Amino acid sequence: MAPSSARALRILALLLSLSSSAGFHLAAPSSHAPRRERRAGSISADASKRGELQVRLLGIGAAAPEKRVPNSELEELVDTSDEWIAQRTGISCRHLLAPEEGLSDLATSAVKDALEQAGVEAADVDLVIMATSSPDDLFGDAAGVARSVGATGAVAFDLTAACSGFLFGINTASQFLHNGAYETAVVIGADALSRWVDWSDRNTCVLFGDGAGAVVLQRAAEGEAAGVLGFEMHSNGAGREDLNLPYDGDTRELASIATVTTGKYTPIAMNGKEVYKFATTCVPKVLNEALENAELTVDDVDWLLMHQANIRIMETVAKKLKIPMDKVLTNLAEYGNTSAGSIPLALNEAVREGKVKKGDVIACAGFGAGLSWGSAILRWG
Ligand code: ACO
Repeated sequence: MAPSSARALRILALLLSLSSSAGFHLAAPSSHAPRRERRAGSISADASKRGELQVRLLGIGAAAPEKRVPNSELEELVDTSDEWIAQRTGISCRHLLAPEEGLSDLATSAVKDALEQAGVEAADVDLVIMATSSPDDLFGDAAGVARSVGATGAVAFDLTAACSGFLFGINTASQFLHNGAYETAVVIGADALSRWVDWSDRNTCVLFGDGAGAVVLQRAAEGEAAGVLGFEMHSNGAGREDLNLPYDGDTRELASIATVTTGKYTPIAMNGKEVYKFATTCVPKVLNEALENAELTVDDVDWLLMHQANIRIMETVAKKLKIPMDKVLTNLAEYGNTSAGSIPLALNEAVREGKVKKGDVIACAGFGAGLSWGSAILRWG
């Protein structure tokens, strides 16, 4: 490195250390004037412990396609039965996007409901994260959804972490709110895996459905109770082949210039037994890690909310954690596995039914392709 670059780096490091010791943060330049004065972050938790984040979860919304397909109808398609599907998975039904519907339409509807419940104006949203693996547009859906709801001042981007995506999105957005960079965020979890399953493969096609959910988060004011009490996230690419949706483009010669591929993906492939073992081993562990980071125990948990993949996975995890099933939130029976949509779809139902109340502690865990898995201990409201 040239001496002048090294000197510049030392000066930058000095400036950064001075700014943080003075209790303020260097914010990224913003293209629009802040609507409200952004407060300096007062980071109370030890970041290395992945503990409390000063955010509040203020509103939730969800949407699923109208088309409802019960197990019995899949008997026409593959060699399966309602009994097999219900017993092995807990799924009775799924909702499927129609050709004229977009995933962005579901996400837009979910965000509108979440903003309304939160009492937050779309124009006040600073950040939109859309967790999805099946966007309408491979370049990302978040910016389009932000525009559709009127969040025209927000920065918006997609995040891909399969069924862990919503949880990873909550943890990511919460960092920006906690450190003072942004005031208000929307996190969407949405997927339409009906687009990517092989409808002749009974091992996978019976499992998935389409849906979206969204949560509005705001930076908590001084003295307000934190909404993320602790979190943890992991991934392991060694398990990538146990669950994937790989690119498999057709080879094409461009005259004598180059050989390229043109886009196509192979349908979802899953080693169900390996994913089952991974989930029942890693999910209890990652929930315990987040509880430890939050300095809480299972006795402090009001609700357990896992990615809705299989009721047997939920039962095994709950048993390992010694949490009774009546504290487990699930709507898997109606929607199947909606990937990144599943956690907010289930939470939306529980909040709107009045089951989950303001102040309730919800231990949440996502897991899926990557392999990836993560948790957050949330306080609602
Ligand atoms: N209907 C009838 N029979 C079936 C079906 C079906 N839909 N699917 C499989 N079978 C058969 C198999 O062919 C097999 O038959 P065989 O014994 O003659 O070979 C038999 O049922 C048993 O199959 P298994 O795969 O052993 O069934 P298992 O009890 O493991 O259940 C399941 C399969 C439900 C997929 C389970 O392994 C599971 O839930 N795994 C986890 C999936 C998961 O959590 N995914 C989450 C992540 S999704 C994401 O990230 C996108």
